[in-house]
Amino acid sequence: MSSGLPDRVRIVEVGPRDGLQNEGIDIGTAAKIALIDRLSHTGLRSIEATAFVSPKWVPQMADASEVFAGITRAPGVAYPVLTPNLQGYERARAAGATEVAVFTAASDAFNRRNTNAGIDESLQRFSPLLDRALADGVKVRGYVSTVLGCPYQGEVPLADVVRVAKALHDMGCYEVSLGDTIGVGTPGKARAMLRAVAAEVPMDALAVHFHDTYGQGLANLLACLEEGVAVVDSAVSGAGGCPYAKGATGNVASEDVVYMLHGLGIHTGVDLEALADTGRWLAGLLGRETRSRVGKALATR
Ligand code: HMG
Ligand code: MG
Repeated sequence: MSSGLPDRVRIVEVGPRDGLQNEGIDIGTAAKIALIDRLSHTGLRSIEATAFVSPKWVPQMADASEVFAGITRAPGVAYPVLTPNLQGYERARAAGATEVAVFTAASDAFNRRNTNAGIDESLQRFSPLLDRALADGVKVRGYVSTVLGCPYQGEVPLADVVRVAKALHDMGCYEVSLGDTIGVGTPGKARAMLRAVAAEVPMDALAVHFHDTYGQGLANLLACLEEGVAVVDSAVSGAGGCPYAKGATGNVASEDVVYMLHGLGIHTGVDLEALADTGRWLAGLLGRETRSRVGKALATR
């Protein structure tokens, strides 16, 4: 393949969490379990299953324990879950989780609205969680939100993105996912952001997470692949958004990402037809058409 691009990419499917946390329709616990089980048979190796957050803040994730306990875990597939604090970590562990994800932001204003804490306070909150997780042999992923813009603060200085990503990595997060929460980024900015972070955190410990609000997701992704990133977050059917980022739509659709990667000769291990089928099935449950262009195109063949 052309120079610079990775040979293989690991997709972190975030639809069951990032997707469903912000859909108006609650598809119900049984359908959430069915979604994860279907995704488990598509060749995906990482599926973010749910979020052990406060049900008062995100009612769509109130059934996290039931969902996690109900899924059939496929061998070789990781099922990370969001944990904002120790209480969430304990709930996640009680449900059987062996990988968790902590989340903060590069913008203080957003982080306060999302988690009722400033950035530094949230990092302090994660410290005992990381200690416990590392002692328990639980892997911890870290998220930095608003890396290319904030709905409350506007511009976000690159130095803030770098500082927070490095802090998460230094604390013991094996991977740090850089999130364009409101999808405002464009490829040049995405590339510059990743390059700045990769100067402080090894590229193989980084992932990118693009919401597709302005239709820039795939273009941003390609720019970052050219920089050497090899882990990509995406959501089947392009579902969702963030409840504390008004107007933000779902992540770039996993089907569209897989189609582009395969077209570039990059291995994902994902069965595109099975994934697209699951995306259309989910869209049906949500009472609309799939937001994946590839999912729509494949259906008309
Ligand atoms: P708080 O209100 O400050 O928390 O919320 P608190 O510690 O004061 O507790 C208040 C109440 O919540 C108590 O209950 C706690 O027990 C309960 P009460 O005594 O009033 O009955 N509580 C919990 N319950 C269940 N599980 C928990 C938990 N923690 C406290 N873990 C908190 C602080 C962080 C908990 C809250 O703000 C929260 O849950 N926020 C999560 C918001 C969220 O999930 N946002 C979406 C995910 S992030 C995202 O989408 C971005 C991402 O995709 C990347 C990107 O796109 O940029 C990752
Ligand atoms: Mg997100």
